[in-house]
Amino acid sequence: MTIRKVGVVGGGLMGSGIAQVVSQAGFSTVICEVSQELVAKSRQVIEKNLTRLVEKGLLTNALKAETLSRLVGSTTVEDLADCDVVIEAIVEQLPAKRDLFRALDAVCKPTSIFASNTSSLTITELACTTKRPDRFVGIHFFNPAPLMKLVEVVRTIATAPQVYEEIFSFCKQLGKSPVQTNDRAGFIVNRLLVPYLLDAIRALDQGIGSIEDIDSSMKLGCGYPMGPFALLDFIGLDTTYYIANVMFDEFREQRFAPPPLLKRMVLAGRTGRKAGCGFYDYADKSQPKSA
Ligand code: CAA
Ligand code: NAD
Repeated sequence: MTIRKVGVVGGGLMGSGIAQVVSQAGFSTVICEVSQELVAKSRQVIEKNLTRLVEKGLLTNALKAETLSRLVGSTTVEDLADCDVVIEAIVEQLPAKRDLFRALDAVCKPTSIFASNTSSLTITELACTTKRPDRFVGIHFFNPAPLMKLVEVVRTIATAPQVYEEIFSFCKQLGKSPVQTNDRAGFIVNRLLVPYLLDAIRALDQGIGSIEDIDSSMKLGCGYPMGPFALLDFIGLDTTYYIANVMFDEFREQRFAPPPLLKRMVLAGRTGRKAGCGFYDYADKSQPKSA
């Protein structure tokens, strides 16, 4: 099967980045959101990123125009009917994802391959809502999707070997460095990263250090590009909270339990960079201060 047309459902933080990567790699791309406003917002983000690449001399104006011309927006799954691959990147909540995959299964051609960008849900749980579990994989991109080279390609016990190989080579065509992983909640990276991030919140709650000092320590002491609180704000505290709940539910291990402070932050609407406030306040984006 030749992959020509790709659908991306969800045009938030991850979906926009994924759609940019897919379109830049030369695939005809449909980005599907819940409203025209959100389709437009996603397109604006992509256009801004491409403009930044042109300014840096990494992309020509002609390639930017070509990339944008391959991208169309939609608010209905019917527009994804003839996509060869559909990548789901909506909110990290099982009922929402299951409803979406049921709807996609009803309209998409039988040969379409479905992929979820879930951070923590098991792919099998999503695949079994469709009549095509053999054509279902996980493609887990990392934030920011246009920059991070890694993609975890997740195989379930039902994934057809040929489908897996096709998707693995598709990820290489996207310019990514794919790794194979089996279908366990959190896959490789989040199995290790999520307990670390949650521990940082527990350390803050126990008064071990300030937000800035914990972040500086991990940057200067371990060479991490971002400290845990800057990274939590970057990922989104709502998304982290959903991920922690899913992983705790799966493993019943204390290290995955969402700390009460994380829950309070989400309830207060302080979901991180995208909300303008999380552990840091982004009123002045060039110099975020701890909130
Ligand atoms: N999209 C595209 N490009 C972006 C970007 C974005 N969202 N954010 C920053 N950039 C680009 C900037 O244009 C800049 O490019 P140049 O150096 O060529 O000018 C470059 O990235 C560096 O940006 P900044 O100077 O603003 O900031 P930085 O040096 O701190 O780099 C970063 C930003 C690349 C994000 C870096 O901080 C980093 O690697 N952070 C760690 C990110 C990480 O750990 N991601 C994984 C999260 S976990 C996950 O994704 C899994 C999950 O399921 C939750
Ligand atoms: P987000 O909240 O930024 O974006 C989600 C988007 O999905 C929203 O714009 C919402 O309007 C849209 N949406 C919701 N239901 C929809 C539907 N039925 N049809 C179309 N669009 C719909 O979230 P995000 O951070 O982009 O996360 C998306 C997925 O990617 C989640 O599964 C998350 O776990 C995963 N992920 C997130 C990160 C991260 O760092 N944030 C990294 C890797 C993977």
